Amino acid sequence: MADFKVTPWEVEGEVDYEKLMRDFGAQSIPREVISKLPEPILLPLRRGFFYAHRDFDKFVEDAKRGKPVSIVTGRGPSGRMHLGHILPFYTAKWFQEKMGASVLIPISDDEKYLVKRKLKIRDVEAFGRDNLIDILAVGFDPEKTRIVIDLEDTEIYRPTVIVSKRVTYSTIRAVFGLTNESNIGWVFYPAIQMVHLFLPQIIWEPQRVLVPVAIDQDPYIRVARDVAERVGLVKTAGLLSKFMPSLESPTGKMSTSGGGEEKVIWLTDDEKTVRKKIMKYAFSGGRPTVEEHRRLGGIPEIDVSFLYLLYFFEEDDRKIKEIEERYRSGEMLTGELKEYTAKKISGFLREHQRRREKVLDEGLEVVLDRYRLRDEERDKIREWGKEL
Ligand code: TYM
Repeated sequence: MADFKVTPWEVEGEVDYEKLMRDFGAQSIPREVISKLPEPILLPLRRGFFYAHRDFDKFVEDAKRGKPVSIVTGRGPSGRMHLGHILPFYTAKWFQEKMGASVLIPISDDEKYLVKRKLKIRDVEAFGRDNLIDILAVGFDPEKTRIVIDLEDTEIYRPTVIVSKRVTYSTIRAVFGLTNESNIGWVFYPAIQMVHLFLPQIIWEPQRVLVPVAIDQDPYIRVARDVAERVGLVKTAGLLSKFMPSLESPTGKMSTSGGGEEKVIWLTDDEKTVRKKIMKYAFSGGRPTVEEHRRLGGIPEIDVSFLYLLYFFEEDDRKIKEIEERYRSGEMLTGELKEYTAKKISGFLREHQRRREKVLDEGLEVVLDRYRLRDEERDKIREWGKEL
């Protein structure tokens, strides 16, 4: 296996997920925890795309006992959103609907301003608004969901100061792989994201908070867990996924860094564009010639179209099994698999885009207002931790 590197700000090479989980000190998700979840279980959970965790079992137990629980998952607005970015949000929605979780969504415009050299404040704010159209299109319950925008909701400064006093420079330097050239915003920002993870406990009451994210975000969960109990809060739980593969590699990350605009599927792509991208770029586990393919069969495990179906888009267990068998035996060719995958993705996007239009028709700010912190919640943030 080639060398790889995963930090919240950079993913390089072919990711070895089992090694990453061990290195980070997370656990694999036991089958019996998944089997306790309410049906129908979200596809990426059921089929192992979410594959590692910290205290997920405790979260499930608390939710089942009717205790208040919540989800935090966010977005750093550095551009438009692609298919991989929206996944944690649909996951959060599932936990809200099926397990009664409250949801808190931070928009870390500060983070992207700090780590992306070229971006200006104006840019991250504009991307933040654009990304919120997609996040609101997911359809969260406004009574049980809050959105916090770092550069606007400045109340979070106070808890950030309290938290930052309890984290050393050497921890942040090691956990996030900082160098002498990193600007000091990179050192400070992790305290902000730690506060995001604590916010449901601050604005509502102490409770188990689960953070569903791709594993690149795990370092924040780790440092938050170290501090939580020292500031009177329950330890944060994590639910960690693999990366939705890039079109060109089953072990890469769907991302614009290095890949370019053309090679990711944007949430705004129409059917024709999706089909074109899948046909042209999706890495195939098929053989170079039809004759060889018929004789030797395809390899579903490394075929990006198959992986998209398996983890996200083919709900029907019998159908996915049938596709796997037909492809492996050589009966199904890459072209047919790609056509089917493109249709499935477009179907998902059509629904998402319809809800996106609804947000725009109603007016982004009007819809967003329903999700902003209430006055009493802002007061809670201001009052929190005076004895710490
Ligand atoms: P960001 O904006 O880089 O990514 C948003 C979310 O999408 C996940 N993600 C992916 N998941 C699957 N496959 C992919 N190819 C893929 N690419 C990105 C990321 O893991 C992330 O969950 N720092 C965060 C934003 C943030 C946040 C938080 C997240 C701020 N506060 C609190 C969780 C909890 C970020 O830059 O994500």
